[in-house]
Amino acid sequence: MSRLVYILNGPNLNLLGKRQPHIYGHETLADVERDCRALATELGLELRFHQSNREYEIIDWIHEARDIACGLAINPAAFTHTSVAVLDALNTFDHPVIEVHISNVHKREEFRHRSFVSLRADGVIAGCGTLGYQLALRRIAQLAQPTA
Ligand code: DQA
Repeated sequence: MSRLVYILNGPNLNLLGKRQPHIYGHETLADVERDCRALATELGLELRFHQSNREYEIIDWIHEARDIACGLAINPAAFTHTSVAVLDALNTFDHPVIEVHISNVHKREEFRHRSFVSLRADGVIAGCGTLGYQLALRRIAQLAQPTA
C-alpha cells in the first residue's frame, strides 16, 4: 500500500512568514515543510510538498496524486472560496483529503466562510496555525492504516 502523501498549498502561501503575520504567523512555508517532513518520517510516510499561485498546477498535482498517493492535505488558500475546478479535481481522488487553513476562516470575512473544498474534504482543520498541517498528516496516517 502506498505511504505517499501530498501536501498542496495555494496562492500567496509562498509569502508565509512575511504576509499578514498577525493572521498567519511568522513561520515560513519552508519551516512548515521541514516540520512536516520530520513528522512524515516519524509516521512512516513519504511526502510531496508543493505550493503554487496557479490554479492549474494545483489541479495537475491532484491528478498526479490520484494513482500514487494514499492521502492528500490541501490548503487551497483563496481557491478554497472560488474554485469549482479544484473541487472537481479532488472529487477524482479516492483517498483521504484533509483541508487545512492556518487562520480560523469562520472568524473572518463572510466570503471566507464558504468552502468548495469542504464539500469533498474528509476533515477540516482551521485556526490551529501552521500546526494544522501536522494534525492533517497525523489524521491521514490514521485513515491510511491498512485494515487487515
Ligand atoms: C487561508 C485562508 C484563506 O481564506 C486565505 O485566502 C488564505 C489562507 C488560511 O490558511 O488561513 O490565503 O487558507
